[in-house]
Amino acid sequence: MSSPSARRVELGEGLQYHLMIKRGDVSRYVLLPGDPERVPVIAKYWDKAWHVATHREFVTYGGYYKGVFISATSTGIGAPSTAIAIEELARCGADTFIRVGTTGALRREIKLGDIVISTGAVRLEGTSRHYAIPEYPAVASFEVVLALIEAAESLGVNYHVGLTASSDSFYVGQERPGFRDYLPPFQRGLVDYLKSMNVLNFEMEASVIFVLSSIYGLRAGAVCAAIANRETDEFKPGVGVEDAIRVANEAVRILSEWDSEKEKRSKKYITVDIVKSTKR
Ligand code: URA
Repeated sequence: MSSPSARRVELGEGLQYHLMIKRGDVSRYVLLPGDPERVPVIAKYWDKAWHVATHREFVTYGGYYKGVFISATSTGIGAPSTAIAIEELARCGADTFIRVGTTGALRREIKLGDIVISTGAVRLEGTSRHYAIPEYPAVASFEVVLALIEAAESLGVNYHVGLTASSDSFYVGQERPGFRDYLPPFQRGLVDYLKSMNVLNFEMEASVIFVLSSIYGLRAGAVCAAIANRETDEFKPGVGVEDAIRVANEAVRILSEWDSEKEKRSKKYITVDIVKSTKR
């Protein structure tokens, strides 16, 4: 076997250097939690599940959810490791990503435990700038957004839809005081500024997932449980996470149904007709 190239870095037979997965190991539909421990929790809802690989912060499971081949890979916290996950999953055939995470809401009406479905994200992270100019948009796929809304409706979960801000920093970059109350002047007022632009929530990975997916012609969406509210100053770790997971799993089933129908009708995009014809 020839030695791996430093430029391409793949190991033998297409094995990916960080995720330790290869083509055939993952579905086209991949759920992306940040936390490695959330992967088995996601898989608990599947009819059948198996562990694929664990390496660093990246844990991958495969399985079947209501008959649909599905995968989940943890991204770790933040944009750099998330971009690695997207790169390597895409090389293995994944084309549809749904981030399943937690978030800090910026609006009073988003109650703790509600979920937020992102239509796009403000790029307050550095990784996507390695890929595209700052003016390049971070937008979710309308098909994934629609599937997430449909899933939330069918499961009766409280949801909000709109813009997210993705930051590289959980503390100071989200206008939380750092150690010894450090908060530089340029971060002061950030919460109010984002609120004034109708941004709903803070998290740390959606924008890089959206930018990379748009560049590569893949689909992506994000659904996050509000565990904090910056307006009411409430914080409840873990609340709503199971709902976000249920919605993401169900959105994959819905997308797979729409995708089959698209293929049957030789359509490139989901249409209202397709949605109606697959509605139970
Ligand atoms: N994740 C974040 O990035 N911010 C929060 O406030 C909560 C979860």
